[in-house]
Amino acid sequence: MSKIKRTDHRRRRFIQGAVAGAAITAFAPSRFAIGGTAKVKVGILLPYSGTYAFLGEKITAAMKFAIAQAGGKLGGRDIEFVQLDSEAKPPKATENTNKLITGENVDFLVGPVHSGVAMAMAKIAREENVITIVPNAGANQLTGPLCAPNIFRTSFSNWQPSFPSGKVVYDDGHRNVVTMAWNYGAGKQALGGFSQGFEDAGGKIVKQILTPFPKVEFQAYLTEIAALKPDAVFVFYAGGGAIKFVKDYAASGLKDKIPLYSSGFLTEGTLKAQGAAAEGIKTTLHYSETLDNPANRIFRPAFEKATGKSADVFAVQGYDTGLLLLQAMNAVKGDTGAQKEIITAMENAVIDSPRGKWTFSAAHNPIQDFYLRQVVDGQNKVLGIAHKALSDLAKGCRMG
Ligand code: BEZ
Repeated sequence: MSKIKRTDHRRRRFIQGAVAGAAITAFAPSRFAIGGTAKVKVGILLPYSGTYAFLGEKITAAMKFAIAQAGGKLGGRDIEFVQLDSEAKPPKATENTNKLITGENVDFLVGPVHSGVAMAMAKIAREENVITIVPNAGANQLTGPLCAPNIFRTSFSNWQPSFPSGKVVYDDGHRNVVTMAWNYGAGKQALGGFSQGFEDAGGKIVKQILTPFPKVEFQAYLTEIAALKPDAVFVFYAGGGAIKFVKDYAASGLKDKIPLYSSGFLTEGTLKAQGAAAEGIKTTLHYSETLDNPANRIFRPAFEKATGKSADVFAVQGYDTGLLLLQAMNAVKGDTGAQKEIITAMENAVIDSPRGKWTFSAAHNPIQDFYLRQVVDGQNKVLGIAHKALSDLAKGCRMG
């Protein structure tokens, strides 16, 4: 379907709904006043099974929570959410994205968590010109060579949270470091960000270890690290894999000998399960549950009360996705056909987030603070700001 046809279709759906609402008005005047237009369709492609399942659940719950708090509508229109389980499986991403875009003709697409899924999804979203909000997947390419006017990310690029850790580890006195991650785009790019920051400061990467995704058999690699005797270890793991890695690292006896660092996903939404094994781990991330700002103080208890889920960075990214949709759709009074105006509203959005206020870069990625955190008494305690207002490098991004 051509770009123009898709936009026309959305506008037609909006107008037909409005006309239907107006017709009903003659018999029931209050009906139009409460919004007689067709529902806004929001397609969601997130993992609800596998190692990233709880990330997908938190993002979904928090996005819906943000919209519910604002009255449950987008630009005055009711919403239909169409939800698919991505399973965090890149081979299924093309079919799933087509189901939402072509099969369901969604107005907006939200997803995914996994960078490999994001690569396939973004290519289709670009071709089909559907406004897409990425609430987690950090694939650098999405705000680099694959950037597009209709693609926005409310989370981070993989480079972003890891880059500040490089200087932190160097400043802690470590010079020789082993890095380790799942062997796919997010893992490799996270290690790339760390290595850049660490080597710029003067440190040396002794060895980079890549392990198959989503496997969690780490023992052989931990034995190798013990033999290498680096000053410190930096890793990227998230979700269920992060829980297992932190427990295995402590059980292997390495925790007391070689300090463990990571981007903050290692200790997000996982601390209860990791227990004492996580104590002392230092990470850098764009959120912490202990951030003392008004938005975070209000968000955490309200989200937890409404959903029964604990708030973490994934919930915050979902919440901010909801806030972005609300701002953009209010700006066009619900007209999903006004794509140019929606994009302008998104580009100019200021998100008053629990992570701190943030805005979009020219490549549509958050410009945001990265906090240095340490696990103390089962919480990611903020030690300071590791990098203020960090923007993604956006290498190769040409909008237009
Ligand atoms: C990713 O695949 O981009 C990703 C997954 C989980 C946490 C962070 C990044």
